[in-house]
Amino acid sequence: MIRARMIGVGSAVPKKLLTNADLEKIVETSDEWITTRTGIKQRHIVSEGEKFSDLCTKASEMALKRARVKPEDLDMILVGTISGDMPFPATACLVQRNLGASRAAASDVSAACVGFLYGLHLADGLIQSGKAENVLVVGGEILTRYVDWTDRSTCVLFGDGAGAAVLQATKGDHGILGSRMKSEGNYADFICMPGGGSDHPANDPKSIEQRLPFIKMRGNETFKVAVKAMADVTADLLAEQGFSNDDVKIFIPHQANERIIDAVGQRLKFPAERVYKNVDRFGNTSAASIPIALDECLQKDLIRIGDLVLMTAFGAGLVWGSVLMRW
Ligand code: ACO
Repeated sequence: MIRARMIGVGSAVPKKLLTNADLEKIVETSDEWITTRTGIKQRHIVSEGEKFSDLCTKASEMALKRARVKPEDLDMILVGTISGDMPFPATACLVQRNLGASRAAASDVSAACVGFLYGLHLADGLIQSGKAENVLVVGGEILTRYVDWTDRSTCVLFGDGAGAAVLQATKGDHGILGSRMKSEGNYADFICMPGGGSDHPANDPKSIEQRLPFIKMRGNETFKVAVKAMADVTADLLAEQGFSNDDVKIFIPHQANERIIDAVGQRLKFPAERVYKNVDRFGNTSAASIPIALDECLQKDLIRIGDLVLMTAFGAGLVWGSVLMRW
């Protein structure tokens, strides 16, 4: 059987740090509130002039180097993001240009915080069907450019970054074993940015006046759906693949909020030491959160050949999903 095997991972975050103490000077909040409600202590944020496509390119170059794959051998580049350099063209095309991936088709995947997992799901399909041999999947975001710095309920949550993975067609038991993606458009207004699209274009002065091109979130309602959705889809995927949580070496949930991560882990009865967390250092980097965490796990040698790695994420759409792979 042909499988999509992940053979190289890379990540990149901006240098600049924004701590909870820095946020105390911007909005009425406190380190104590942010830490107890979210687990976040700091986030990396872009400076003026830094480009999203450059972060994606840096992460991709690292992943390609570790995979020992040349850019010209890529058949497809998928970038999971909702904060590309421009509404069009796709950031994937800019990454393709920057890498010199001359043969690759390139397209963005809009699935908010689940963008990387949706990308893996699609890449797995392309590879299994024989339509591609080498696929680069990137998950990245610079949501701090869309944050409303007067809204304390959202501006404390987000950080910027990008992560990338090279998937290659292989025969055998290593690679993506299964993936499940879900969506519920009835909850589209739980997390959204109402302005900047064709409904309320960014070039309409009323958009800015009404503060439409900014992230809006119904955090509390999102929280409740997120925990159940991620736990259910992950349990279903494990059962479908004939595994239990004891078989999984490391569980990497989307790093949105420490309380959500803990609640999902507990619902699935994962021992805390096998649930990976780095939300304290990066905040919610949306589509970048899973590949950044995955890269850290690999660099720390927490994942070895043959280990089962389970990932789940949740975000605006609403969308959610889970991917199980054997490293
Ligand atoms: N500092 C101090 N107080 C605050 C802050 C802040 N930064 N933010 C909100 N508060 C206050 C509120 O005003 C409220 O006060 P009140 O009781 O006087 O009205 C109180 O704290 C409680 O507010 P809640 O919104 O109920 O707080 P909650 O415990 O739900 O935490 C949070 C908010 C952190 C946003 C949480 O709901 C959450 O993490 N939700 C899920 C987010 C998520 O996973 N999003 C998906 C991915 S994002 C994407 O896809 C782009």
